[in-house]
Amino acid sequence: MLLNLTILPGDGIGPEVTEQAVLVLQVVADAFGHQLQLHHRLIGGAALTVANDPLPADTVQACLASTAVLLGAVGSPKFDHNPGHLRPEAGLLRIRRELGAYANLRPAVFFPALEDCSPLRAEVVRGTDIMIVRELLGGLYFGQPRSISGTSESGNAGERVAVNTMRYAEFEVERIARVAFDLAMKRKMKVLSVDKANVLECSRLWRDVVTRIGKDYPEVKLGHQYVDSAAMLLVQRPTDFDVVLTENMFGDILSDQAGGVVGSLGLLASASVGGPVGLYEPVHGSAPDIAGKGIANPLGAILSVALLLRHSCHLEKEAACIEGAVSAVLSQGARTADLAGKTHAPISTAEMGRRVVEAAKGAVSEHKSD
Ligand code: IPM
Ligand code: MG
Repeated sequence: MLLNLTILPGDGIGPEVTEQAVLVLQVVADAFGHQLQLHHRLIGGAALTVANDPLPADTVQACLASTAVLLGAVGSPKFDHNPGHLRPEAGLLRIRRELGAYANLRPAVFFPALEDCSPLRAEVVRGTDIMIVRELLGGLYFGQPRSISGTSESGNAGERVAVNTMRYAEFEVERIARVAFDLAMKRKMKVLSVDKANVLECSRLWRDVVTRIGKDYPEVKLGHQYVDSAAMLLVQRPTDFDVVLTENMFGDILSDQAGGVVGSLGLLASASVGGPVGLYEPVHGSAPDIAGKGIANPLGAILSVALLLRHSCHLEKEAACIEGAVSAVLSQGARTADLAGKTHAPISTAEMGRRVVEAAKGAVSEHKSD
């Protein structure tokens, strides 16, 4: 198969982790006889610096012309004082919209080798396998109107007013609900829909629509939980969760929390799908405090490649091979600084990548001799 991919390394640790993810992808593609065509493009702060636009037109064109897009991270404190549309994050929100990627899948799986990394007791976290299904193109992130009146420099500090709008149309809830139920059918037949229906109209509509769609999936057990209580249960009984269906902002928050539960946000991968081209990125973000040091955890990016192969290319064996390789290196004790704690000597980003490459080669030859 020809894999025509656009690579958007972005900012901060994005380029470092993406480089390792691409090396792993290359090895697996070679081993299974797939051809890779990679096009690197700019996004976020990297694009602002060169083109004064966080999402230049040629980046969008390249993404739309590819099989899938692999993104590192966006965000840099350098642009903290820019207006909203000239911040790195605006590039990420725009590419999600350009690609029609309304469904953000964020698996949070506990690796048995990482018992010492979770802040939770081993018996609480063992067996955790959650799929967060986050709506990605609606809610507060995109709702209009949005504004902030004036600037503090213009002399009206103390009087400014800011507005954001949480808005959901019924079709937006319906399509993301179907994604969650379809996933649940292939998992443990459980969907927990997370909302704030005791306070928000958006959530009341959300609950109503999800309940209606749920009737098309009688085999799936549907539950509803307020977001505050879901946040508590996520640390008390993470193994009770299977598919978590939620709106954009709640999903953003709960997915970082799920990263903490399983040991490190650095492990979490994501797939943003639903449109013509899927977008794959680690959940962790640009982490400017550790950028350029060669110590970031590349496993979130590497696992995002596995999701890319699974969801955009339907290459399940290749995806499983990468996931197996990650699990194997963790079992062998490979730990980047975020996972090392007091018990392990941390290895570099590149060394972690190299070990996954070696393990993937082993997994491929095992697979071929089966
Ligand atoms: C994420 C990030 C982004 C988001 C930021 C960087 C815009 O936190 O992917 O979770 O809020 O969606
Ligand atoms: Mg986030």
